[in-house]
Amino acid sequence: MQNTLDYIFRPRSVAIVGASRHHGKIGYEILRNLKEYGFKGAVYPLNPKAETIQGFKVYSSVPDIPGSVDLAVIAVPAKAVPTIMDQLGEKRAKGAAIISSGFSEIGNKELEDSVMEKARRAGIRVIGPNIFGIFYSPARLNATFGPTDVKPGSIAFITQSGALGIALMGWTVLEKIGLSSIVSVGNKADVDDADLLAWFKEDPATKVILIYMEGIKDGRRFMEEAKKVTAIKPVIVLKAGRGRKGMIAASSHTGSMAGADEVYSASFHQTGILRAVTVEQAFDWATAFDSGRIAFGNRVGIVTNGGGAGVIATDACEDHELDVIDSPDDLRYELRDHMPEFGSTKNPIDLTGMATHEEFKGSLTAVLRHDSIDCGIGLYCETAVTDPSRMARAFIEASTSSRKPLVVGMIGGERVERALDELNEHKVPAYPDITRTVSAVAALVRWSRRREVLSSTS
Ligand code: ACO
Repeated sequence: MQNTLDYIFRPRSVAIVGASRHHGKIGYEILRNLKEYGFKGAVYPLNPKAETIQGFKVYSSVPDIPGSVDLAVIAVPAKAVPTIMDQLGEKRAKGAAIISSGFSEIGNKELEDSVMEKARRAGIRVIGPNIFGIFYSPARLNATFGPTDVKPGSIAFITQSGALGIALMGWTVLEKIGLSSIVSVGNKADVDDADLLAWFKEDPATKVILIYMEGIKDGRRFMEEAKKVTAIKPVIVLKAGRGRKGMIAASSHTGSMAGADEVYSASFHQTGILRAVTVEQAFDWATAFDSGRIAFGNRVGIVTNGGGAGVIATDACEDHELDVIDSPDDLRYELRDHMPEFGSTKNPIDLTGMATHEEFKGSLTAVLRHDSIDCGIGLYCETAVTDPSRMARAFIEASTSSRKPLVVGMIGGERVERALDELNEHKVPAYPDITRTVSAVAALVRWSRRREVLSSTS
């Protein structure tokens, strides 16, 4: 197939085949999302039983559509899809997202092959079937039956699981994580992870790519593409089906071959893909990369107001092969100006429980400025004598003083939650847990190393 995925992500027109009249049905909700998320192109709802739906003029069938179709979102029962694909071919449509289930995932490969044969002949790129849709924030395109109010951002999320993907769309809203795109790939009859990697590599709106996958159909192509992308943008994969029973579950879910987990791990390692184990970890890392900062080494400086927090972080750093360097003398000397007399200038640098936001700002600025440190970690434990929001601003100011990454952990109650949001909004990655904070730093370091290796060998 020749045409690019641009038509699918940035369509000038979208046809919704099976736009239902009924609230709560999939075709209705896709149309509602398209409208409410503010898609500016032409919208053609299709339904032979309606004149208008949600204020849109409705067309009976594909040939009735007055204009051209860049993207057709198909939400009618599977058996109707071959005819629709024929009509889309005649209409010279460019792309289709097939929401319908009932294809190879339930053994109905013949039906899927017949649809794909028609699509290929017409040069129509297909996402799916068996998907919840496609979302691309720069084009204000929400052609999904997930939540409406997804936060725009720079993480592209590709998911093989529909239900999990939809649930995570809602979760990202709650967590205030911004997304450039969400693509539900389902059975991957045409567009697969490798195609999407290639597209997101060039997409200026995407800084980091996160994939939930259960299996790959063309491993070699995926790895070749991944290698090219990881030299430029980080790729995080959450690969499910790690154990024997998980693999069997994965193959009956989307019909893909799961394959030996060790092979996946080795290939991910070789290509510079970061493999996350949990959803939370995958998004934590993606948030860290969203900061756009690069760690040029593994030497960290930890600044905290809690001795215990510093010790836990130091352990976690060791687990992740991060080097909590001994503070050099000149740094120790400088740090003295930014802490009470009884504070410790050793790394982890302990400002003690009475540390002010000014002291945090001053010490972190000194740490980030020092040549012997590649990355700063700020760890704040909420106290009654400090204001977390003021503290967040101190972290933001310290971060602005340098190009090195500063990753923040803030432990506490509701006030801390708001402060964490403020930090993340300012692209200072921040987490409510110490080990999550360190894990995010380790991900930054691992990818930066990978990038370095690739640029030195290319
Ligand atoms: N052209 C235009 N409109 C049509 C056509 C056609 N050829 N055929 C039917 N329609 C209309 C219908 O009249 C109906 O509109 P109405 O509700 O106003 O009467 C609408 O299109 C939908 O058709 P239905 O026959 O009512 O189909 P229904 O909405 O029940 O189901 C669906 C269609 C959603 C595609 C279903 O077959 C399906 O596959 N569901 C599973 C989807 C899914 O789960 N995807 C996987 C990933 S997401 C996840 O896992 C959470």
